[in-house]
Amino acid sequence: MDYKELAEEAIAAKLKAVPPYSNFYVGAALLTEDGKIYLGGNIENSSYSLTVCAERVAVFKAISEGERRFKAIAIASDDPGFCPPCGACRQVLNDLCGSEIDVIMVNQKKESKILKLAELLPLPFGDSNLK
Ligand code: THU
Repeated sequence: MDYKELAEEAIAAKLKAVPPYSNFYVGAALLTEDGKIYLGGNIENSSYSLTVCAERVAVFKAISEGERRFKAIAIASDDPGFCPPCGACRQVLNDLCGSEIDVIMVNQKKESKILKLAELLPLPFGDSNLK
């Protein structure tokens, strides 16, 4: 599975998002170390703050299926720029997928930009702070 394919999976996942309030469709495709993909789309709620981002839908699906080792996540949106994960998703990704995963941001033109999660979330809060 190369990252171009993973980007296509994220673009496809965007179509299943449910964003009736913002109308901003986001798709995420999370790649495990052994090559499995978990998809997510953002799911909005009439009580707006209960909305869940595409990235967290994909991560929670994977974790709840027993996955623990991840390689990358692709995020696609109709943003002409590159849609980066929000702060809450960066924290969740760091805790559950690790700071070394690649984050592939895919824009409307299917161009992509790749950063390590560690670059998006320097100095993270984590389990080591709780000991
Ligand atoms: N959203 C995501 O799904 N992922 C992001 O990385 C940024 C924002 C969603 C949340 C909400 O449904 C919509 O985009 C507008 O904020």
